[in-house]
Amino acid sequence: TTMCNSCVGGATTMELYEQLTAQGDKVRSLKTAKADKADVDAAIQLLLKLKVDYKEVTGQDYKAGCPPSGTAVSNDRQSENGGEEDTVDPWNVATNSAKGVDYDKLIVRFGSSKIDQELVDRIEKVSGQKPHRFLRRGIFFSHRDMNQVLDAYEKQKSFYLYTGRGPSSQAMHVGHLIPFVFTKWLQDVFDIPLVIQLTDDEKYLWKDLSLEDCHRFAEENAKDIIACGFDVNKTFIFSDLDYMGSSPEFYRNVVKVQKHVTFNQVKGIFGFSDSDCIGKISFPAIQAAPAFSSSFPQIFKGRKDVQCLIPCAIDQDPYFRMTRDVAPRIGYPKPALLHSTFFPALQGAQTKMSASDANSSIFLTDTPKQIKNKVNKHAFSGGKDTIEEHREQGGNPDIDVAFMYLTFFMEDDEQLEKIRQDYTSGILLTGELKKMLIETLQPMITAHQENRKNVTDEMVKQFMTPRPLNFNF
Ligand code: TYM
Repeated sequence: TTMCNSCVGGATTMELYEQLTAQGDKVRSLKTAKADKADVDAAIQLLLKLKVDYKEVTGQDYKAGCPPSGTAVSNDRQSENGGEEDTVDPWNVATNSAKGVDYDKLIVRFGSSKIDQELVDRIEKVSGQKPHRFLRRGIFFSHRDMNQVLDAYEKQKSFYLYTGRGPSSQAMHVGHLIPFVFTKWLQDVFDIPLVIQLTDDEKYLWKDLSLEDCHRFAEENAKDIIACGFDVNKTFIFSDLDYMGSSPEFYRNVVKVQKHVTFNQVKGIFGFSDSDCIGKISFPAIQAAPAFSSSFPQIFKGRKDVQCLIPCAIDQDPYFRMTRDVAPRIGYPKPALLHSTFFPALQGAQTKMSASDANSSIFLTDTPKQIKNKVNKHAFSGGKDTIEEHREQGGNPDIDVAFMYLTFFMEDDEQLEKIRQDYTSGILLTGELKKMLIETLQPMITAHQENRKNVTDEMVKQFMTPRPLNFNF
């Protein structure tokens, strides 16, 4: 057999490989035996952890049936990034890998669950709709308690959606669309209420902005959100600065959360320090409150037990780890979550697209010409330096930003797969790939701008007025 030259915690790569194979078998047999969900989840969690360890040691993804070769020189992430962990929190996303954050590792670190094919199939079965491309392509990749939501839904027990936006500027970027586009799909296929929190208070506390600017940005951002196509009869959008003061029930929930979370806990979760203002320290309670249905008596008629499902990118998970922790202590169900990966910066997947770096982002206000220039000038390419080399060796779609963007927005699976193959083989050149992306983004952004133009102040007011929605609770 193969001699192994790298060891981790006493286990050779071969031992790890065998452990992984055995664990894969165990997961399969548990599933076949329809074992207890908790047992299956625990087995999957261990499997993922082993996969992460394996990749760390060998620099390669585990593949069933392909044992590691002892002589393989690992070009692993460990050596790429000096063994440092990726940074993922509400304020920073950073990794040293051009492929982006290691999302499997994040699942293990955060203790969430992977959205596997089985769950995607189940969502298809329960909703009766073809899964959204974000599900088909692993863009929404992690969850908490989604099976529980589906179990209840199958028994005619409804749930509601909660998502949000921190209005730090007038301009939203394409990355911000990801959770909203997916939330709109969920609202359509499950036909359920949706609440959208605009944390103008948060942005006032964190940024050098006036209260009035934050509040104005909230209303401007609401127009972009409404332009995604939400149904006014099923959607309530609120600014914290307005709603907090007008809803005794909401504020009561904020106070309940504040009483049951200590400074030590938020320090641990968010890294606050003694010199952070006290507004920041208590803010997480305000992002937690909408996850409890009693915060919206006008919608849920005072019911406090309606299950909440939160779609967001995984940077927001710290808020909801805290929320899920505190929920049972104040007598509420834990919210479920669906996490998305990050829409990468133009310069590469080492970080996410961020509004605070204008060159990294394509904004929803960009003109077709600006889109073209930004993609051509800034989008990091996985292609080769010369056409001859590219034709000969092919490009690398895994680190190519134009290709990554297409996986988010090109609807046709077969077309996308053909592009991947042609780029990898060198038939398709970087310039041609970028052109396809430009031609995908331009009409999409133009359509968004048209929709936004049709959103009147009157409509914004309607969406943002506390009122009953078209559901009987
Ligand atoms: P904010 O304004 O930073 O982001 C709004 C939503 O967009 C997601 N997001 C991204 N998704 C994919 N790729 C990116 N590059 C990217 N950048 C941001 C965020 O995860 C978020 O879902 N504190 C929050 C506002 C908030 C909220 C919520 C968000 C309040 N309640 C409930 C989600 C769910 C914030 O500042 O988001």
